[in-house]
Amino acid sequence: MDNRPIAFFDSGVGGLPYLGWAKEHLPRETFVYFADTAHFPYGEKSAKEVRTFVLEGVEGVIRASNPKMIVIACNTASVVALSELRARFRLPFVGVVPALKPAAERSAGRRIALLATGLTAEDGYTDDLVRSFAADCEVIRIGDGELVRFVEYELVSSDAERIRSAIRPIVEAVRAKGVDSLVLACTHFTLLDAAFKRELGDSVAIVDSREGVGRQIMRLLAQEGIEADAKGEDRLCVSGQESDRYLRFAERYGLAFAGTKV
Ligand code: DGL
Repeated sequence: MDNRPIAFFDSGVGGLPYLGWAKEHLPRETFVYFADTAHFPYGEKSAKEVRTFVLEGVEGVIRASNPKMIVIACNTASVVALSELRARFRLPFVGVVPALKPAAERSAGRRIALLATGLTAEDGYTDDLVRSFAADCEVIRIGDGELVRFVEYELVSSDAERIRSAIRPIVEAVRAKGVDSLVLACTHFTLLDAAFKRELGDSVAIVDSREGVGRQIMRLLAQEGIEADAKGEDRLCVSGQESDRYLRFAERYGLAFAGTKV
């Protein structure tokens, strides 16, 4: 038994739907969510810079919250820093990488769109995923930093029409390319999955890694014998300026807003 929290780490709000899945399925666990808003957006920085921010941020989370496990709920951070995190810190990590494998398993037409940050779309890690799991598919990679910023800064105060117009370029590109699967390979985009489903209908599968990541957390908890038996308070912290948006997200996900205190 281990009642220490499970920490979630992202550059912003993208990891929240992943935490939402875990909260629902692991009711005895305590969670702390850390958004490295001071360095958002990761996807428009160099891999070297992102690696530095992630290593420093994770070190701060470990010092302040003493978590038993860390979920890097960010494709960009996982792709560039996961192996170094595992080498440096002695606790279990769960990473989030583009869900190409489940998408390729299901794609009848063998044409898949991968929507990510520019950094993830171009990284060698994504090349390896394509080679390993989707070698016989045409994978159209789309890096969209503008849509990441929309989710981070505007989504919480946008109505359905504004959301529709924000995703329109992607919806049009997906239709024009005739793909049958859209992989949401930046955690921020999982906050748009219902909007994508509404616009694209049943002919395009919207695929993300929430459930895969959640199941991996469960497996690791059992394997390490570190499940909790008493729940504490779930918290959300940010590294940059506090904002109303984060108060609203904290409320939506049932987290106490702890401001910049990890
Ligand atoms: N949420 C992050 C991801 O999954 C990246 C967002 C950013 O650019 O900071 O890739």
